[in-house]
Amino acid sequence: MNTDELPSPADSVAFVKGLRKPTVADVLRAAQDQGLVAIQPRCGVGGHEQMRGLLLALEGGAHPDILSLTIDSYTRLNQFDRALSALSNAPEELNGYPLVTHGWRRGRDLNQAVSVPLEVRHGSPLPRRLFEIAIASGITSFEGGGISYNLPYCRDVPLMDSLNAYAEIDARCGELAKAGVIVDRELFGSLTGVLVPPSVSLAISMLEAVMATRAGVSCISIAYPQSGNMVQDVAALRAIRSLAIRYLPPSVNVYPVLHEFMGVFPKSRARAEQLIFAGALTARLGGAAKVVTKTFHEGYGIPDASTNILGMRLARVANASFIHAIRLDEIALDQEQYWIEREVDEIVAPLLRSIDLPLAISSAFKRGSLDVPFSASKHARSSVIPCRDRAGAVRYLDVGGLPFSEDVRRRNRSLLEDRWLVATDHERLQLLMADINYFLEPPEEQDLDFVPAVVNPLRGR
Ligand code: 5AD
Repeated sequence: MNTDELPSPADSVAFVKGLRKPTVADVLRAAQDQGLVAIQPRCGVGGHEQMRGLLLALEGGAHPDILSLTIDSYTRLNQFDRALSALSNAPEELNGYPLVTHGWRRGRDLNQAVSVPLEVRHGSPLPRRLFEIAIASGITSFEGGGISYNLPYCRDVPLMDSLNAYAEIDARCGELAKAGVIVDRELFGSLTGVLVPPSVSLAISMLEAVMATRAGVSCISIAYPQSGNMVQDVAALRAIRSLAIRYLPPSVNVYPVLHEFMGVFPKSRARAEQLIFAGALTARLGGAAKVVTKTFHEGYGIPDASTNILGMRLARVANASFIHAIRLDEIALDQEQYWIEREVDEIVAPLLRSIDLPLAISSAFKRGSLDVPFSASKHARSSVIPCRDRAGAVRYLDVGGLPFSEDVRRRNRSLLEDRWLVATDHERLQLLMADINYFLEPPEEQDLDFVPAVVNPLRGR
């Protein structure tokens, strides 16, 4: 590990101010004020010069509003010796930038190399060290939360440990705000990325946001993953603003963020780009301040610079002037938003009445009254089972232990196709797999560089 001593907090604050570029909070506010969507890629490679080159290539090729340092898996798990050994032997094998190992001086170098602000995107349940280096590097946004960066990723990190780690980080953000530097905290509502019901995503983000604001955070990005049903997605993004008004103090700036589809991507470029295009429209129509982009390479792995650039250029359609004229069905949107907010409230209201919120959250996960579907962690029950309804929106097939009213349960059931209700366990599993692979095209279409014609000769007669 790089043992260089950290600079003083005052030095880091002075460094950010001396950068003469906007902070992430500045960019989000500007996007929101203009009704536009800031564009941000994920990006991270092992070597320092390579990372610098990548950031410059992405900046030059697509002019994103915010750039990312995506951190490698060893660093996420605090395995700094393994990161160092990979860096020394085969940096190209790292799946992100090992910021802790490179150290804050190199972090500052990256920050100075580009004209847009940086966010650290990682996935670490215990990111104290990473956060310190990020702040010393003058980075003004830090992703993750004590629930959302634990349960989807880890098998056995106790929730109280990650909640405590994030409480410290949030408190540090509060101190930095007092010293004049706003550090945006993006909460990872995308969770496992697989059929996440909007109310699970938003309930968990709201709880993390309440804890963050209590600790002193004043700028929060709430990320929601595109489900692929545009009415549901726009309603969920809109719900973020009303939920923030309901649960968070008015002094906090809250920005809805859309993560372009996080599940199984189509393999063909044409279909992948359709999904990305839909994501960009969704972000704008839902009033997101930012969209985190995907690429047509998603079905195969981490994108290179040129595919990443093309993904961002496509996402820029979010800011096209013609979108002004697009209207979705407002009645359907209102209805969907009403139910999303109601479901969120039924989940979070009992917890927000507790005296010790982190403790209440931890025991709620034990009971199953908070839950994440398909979680890797033994600290979540994962007894919630989602599925898609007739229109492709994500619903609850089984609400598990979530404390939903009979009204909510009934509405969910009423939206499901009958085949779910009569299916055997084996058939249910097949239906579920089909919903997980909802956007994956049939094998014979995966190598096509076009979406087949309306009358498809490939399918025969
Ligand atoms: N560079 C770019 N994208 C990355 N992702 C993960 N690591 C990197 C990286 N180093 C992306 C994956 C997926 C999402 C979870 O993060 O491709 O889209």
